[in-house]
Amino acid sequence: MLKLGVNIDHVATLREARYRGRGFGEPSPAEAAKICEAAGAHGITAHLREDRRHIQDRDVWELRAAARRLNLEMANSPEIISLALKLKPEIVCLVPERRLEVTTEGGLDVAGNEKSLLETRRKMNDAGIDVSLFIAPDPGQIEASARVGSQFVELHTGQFAETFFKETASPGAPPVTSAELQRLITGAQQAHALGLRVNAGHGLNYENLPALFAVPHLVELNIGHSIVSRAIFVGMEAAVREMLRLMDGYRG
Ligand code: PXP
Repeated sequence: MLKLGVNIDHVATLREARYRGRGFGEPSPAEAAKICEAAGAHGITAHLREDRRHIQDRDVWELRAAARRLNLEMANSPEIISLALKLKPEIVCLVPERRLEVTTEGGLDVAGNEKSLLETRRKMNDAGIDVSLFIAPDPGQIEASARVGSQFVELHTGQFAETFFKETASPGAPPVTSAELQRLITGAQQAHALGLRVNAGHGLNYENLPALFAVPHLVELNIGHSIVSRAIFVGMEAAVREMLRLMDGYRG
């Protein structure tokens, strides 16, 4: 069964739009996390960014207390590493961070940072925390991830989502989704063959998800923006249930 990790960062984005720097305010990411898990989500994902633009330090501790399964997205930086070792989420997903980006735009350069990622992977595993690496479906990055020894890779679906959007927005445009899908299919096969477990995420929504089901070996999807957006109209519980119902269509 394909698992859903709900990324609740944008619950904090909404709170920070009004209460930045105040240390309080609504809506609460921890309350959202409880509703998501009660609706059937298999875990909660949150990204403590170095610039603290949405999730704050107090949030990750509240999320640790509220969530049965916590996936902390984080940069490979000393400050966040030491926080993660104290927080003890079930899993961390190492992501690249650039301060000016709107969201996590590219995958990690695992091949170019093997030594330091290997060190971080060891520290996390020694503390009983699984490690995932957020990467583009690129053969070199997948091989490097296997050498680093992470338990998971999360394949970046941003490019797939982007091309899906462009194609549906302009029906006459040449189809490129299939090329992006093929990259994800090949990447998932390669990662699986190397013993890596395969997650996917970024830009997934209620429209493009069925097309992604051509990708084999998927264990978990991390989905945030589309669920939080849908929740504004139908509530968090219904938004999560709708996504889970769609995910039932995945045949692996
Ligand atoms: N996975 C990773 C590694 C991410 O950085 C993000 C965005 O924070 C997501 C999944 C969720 O992306 P989206 O909000 O577009 O669903």
